[in-house]
Amino acid sequence: MGERMIAVTGSASGLGAAVAARMRAAGATVIGVDLHDADVVADLSGADGRAAALGAVLGACGGTLHGLVPCAGLGPQVPDHALIASVNYFGFAAFLDGCFGALRAGAPAAAVAISSNSTTIDPTVDAALVDACLAGEEAGARARATDLAGNTVYASSKVAVARAVRRRVTEWGAAGVRVNAVAPGPFESPLLQAGREDPVFGPAIEALPVPTGRPGTPDEVASVVEFLLSPAAAYVHGSIVFVDGGIDALLRPDAI
Ligand SMILES: NC(=O)c1ccc[n+]([C@@H]2O[C@H](COP(=O)([O-])OP(=O)(O)OC[C@H]3O[C@@H](n4cnc5c(N)ncnc54)[C@H](O)[C@@H]3O)[C@@H](O)[C@H]2O)c1
Repeated sequence: MGERMIAVTGSASGLGAAVAARMRAAGATVIGVDLHDADVVADLSGADGRAAALGAVLGACGGTLHGLVPCAGLGPQVPDHALIASVNYFGFAAFLDGCFGALRAGAPAAAVAISSNSTTIDPTVDAALVDACLAGEEAGARARATDLAGNTVYASSKVAVARAVRRRVTEWGAAGVRVNAVAPGPFESPLLQAGREDPVFGPAIEALPVPTGRPGTPDEVASVVEFLLSPAAAYVHGSIVFVDGGIDALLRPDAI
């Protein structure tokens, strides 16, 4: 098999950096995208930055990708709630769909999105925001987000990420491109630390019951992403894999 080409957004920090490091260690060529310290420096919060980033990634990989991990995202404590929706959903979706042709060219290939266990444990998910995201209505989603709490926008954007994954199984499966998501719980990263330091979200994060007794390390989610990208996961398609130390199972034991 030739060189494996993997694109990772949010590659400069946290989970994306851990994924990039793990895939490079496994011998893949990683094209990292981020606001800084990346192969492709771009802002995924708006259409121009997304188009520039996609053009650079598709150029760098020669039109063929074997993996995509769109990790770039903002936490619930970010004061600009419209920006959370733009980066977490629309930046993600632009990359997912913009890389589909290259992934198809590299088939068998796989994408792994980053959702969150906030999707199931935050009771405030806003259906109108989720629907606006999935309909591709960025202006409407941004307007809705400004009226909502940061945690609601965050969790809603991550519900939309998970549903976007599930909605692509038919077309992507036929093309030989698997698509899944991980739903992480708390992982040590600058995003989690910023949440801890927030006067509203900090106490809620500290109060989260974690059956494993500690937050995860970024490599503990990167290892699951590596598995989902690999041939060992050849029949895993359309799955949302919780990697959350048991939090979802603890809080919703019968939700299956
Ligand atoms: N850390 C956690 O506990 C946790 C839990 C669940 C989900 N997640 C998700 O994992 C992903 C990575 O989070 P993290 O904890 O590694 O955070 P992080 O802050 O360490 O890394 C996020 C990266 O995204 C980049 N980014 C932000 N806005 C961008 C933009 N407009 N354009 C390009 N890049 C941009 C940042 O520069 C940063 O390098 C996010 O989608 C986050 O929602 C994290």
